[in-house]
Amino acid sequence: MNVNKTEITICLGSSCFARGNKKMVQVIQQFLKQNFLEDRVIFHGAHCFGECGEGPSIRIGDQTLRSGSEEEVINYLKNHFDL
Ligand code: FES
Repeated sequence: MNVNKTEITICLGSSCFARGNKKMVQVIQQFLKQNFLEDRVIFHGAHCFGECGEGPSIRIGDQTLRSGSEEEVINYLKNHFDL
């Protein structure tokens, strides 16, 4: 993995799907595109994180966000990238 890039991983398990991970993927992709960050991240899906009751689960760098609203995830990304 490129150490200069931020890894963003979203759980694609069925419980997180039921909690809106598909929409969250779109929200994150749109945010990355609008802010010209696509080359600075590795964004991918993963199997269940084992935290199904708290989804949608998203890892940004070494931080795991649980049950975050779209706004909370975007605010976290803004802080992470100093926007
Ligand atoms: S399905 Fe996402 S943490 Fe288990």
